[in-house]
Amino acid sequence: MSPIISISGLSKTYATGFMALKTIDLGINRGEIFALLGPNGAGKTTLISIICGIANPSTGHVLVDGHDIQRDYRAARSLIGLVPQELHTDAFESVWGTVSFSRGLFGKPKNPAHIEKVLRDLSLWDKKDSKIVTLSGGMKRRVMIAKALSHEPQILFLDEPTAGVDVELRKGMWDVMRTLQASGVTIILTTHYIEEAEEMADRVGVINKGEIILVEEKAKLMQKLGRKRMKLHLGSPLTEVPTALSTYNLALADDGKELVYTYDTKSERTGITSLLADLRDAGIKFTDLETTQSSLEDIFVSLVRA
Ligand SMILES: Nc1ncnc2c1ncn2[C@@H]1O[C@H](COP(=O)(O)OP(=O)(O)OP(=O)(O)O)[C@@H](O)[C@H]1O
Ligand SMILES: [Mg+2]
Repeated sequence: MSPIISISGLSKTYATGFMALKTIDLGINRGEIFALLGPNGAGKTTLISIICGIANPSTGHVLVDGHDIQRDYRAARSLIGLVPQELHTDAFESVWGTVSFSRGLFGKPKNPAHIEKVLRDLSLWDKKDSKIVTLSGGMKRRVMIAKALSHEPQILFLDEPTAGVDVELRKGMWDVMRTLQASGVTIILTTHYIEEAEEMADRVGVINKGEIILVEEKAKLMQKLGRKRMKLHLGSPLTEVPTALSTYNLALADDGKELVYTYDTKSERTGITSLLADLRDAGIKFTDLETTQSSLEDIFVSLVRA
């Protein structure tokens, strides 16, 4: 299947001479949720701004469902809803008014039933007559999402959609995203909450210093890079790992009260069975055992630090 967005040879050098993006090649699949992760200043907003036609690329091309974002701007842009990172709304307009107005900007006929549905989905219905200025930060962010959905876009960009949104509402927004995806909308989101990517994304892209350093299906990524740790709580503390067990990847923790075994989840043999047998032979008793899998966060931190 051809990607709904294809980015080729894209770079961006700002007027200051700063090169914010260095030759980006990336395809976004139709119907997927793609999470773009990267530290502050990595180039996420710059990339989104170019795809949405807010900033011009220095080199390269972007096609949105076959439409070149520069030559065929209106057609490309009408397919896209954008929730920008920076909140800017008409403070003295009502929620209903500002969301309806956004739809009009795209030349779509009025559709109050659609606007109502969007506001209800985003738990904003009871605020429909409130002026934006009277809303909390999290509510304003949801108004931005409602605006982005007002013209029924095929593609939704969410630049930090849940920054400053409380846990419960964030979960509600995830549900909204899932519903949109189920209706065929392609979603690209940036986030600093790695758990959000872990929860939502089909694929993850990592951008650092203007370069995409990794694009992978989330499940594969976690499998490939995932390492598991087994922690044994010892009956009596050890001062060092016994030499009989030196062939295992073992470390002591918590003043020798814990023995930690790190192993690769993708290898054929994890070594757990023989480790447990060797522990018994060495007379080491444990009172409890737990295993943990490294998270997307661990993976992300190790990639960006490298
Ligand atoms: N208009 C501009 N002129 C000059 N440099 C800019 C401009 N906009 C952004 N930059 C620089 O480009 C780089 C990428 O910025 P960008 O906003 O794309 O990062 P980001 O990944 O979205 O970061 P964050 O996570 O903080 O939102 C930064 O170094 C930033 O200072
Ligand atoms: Mg940004």
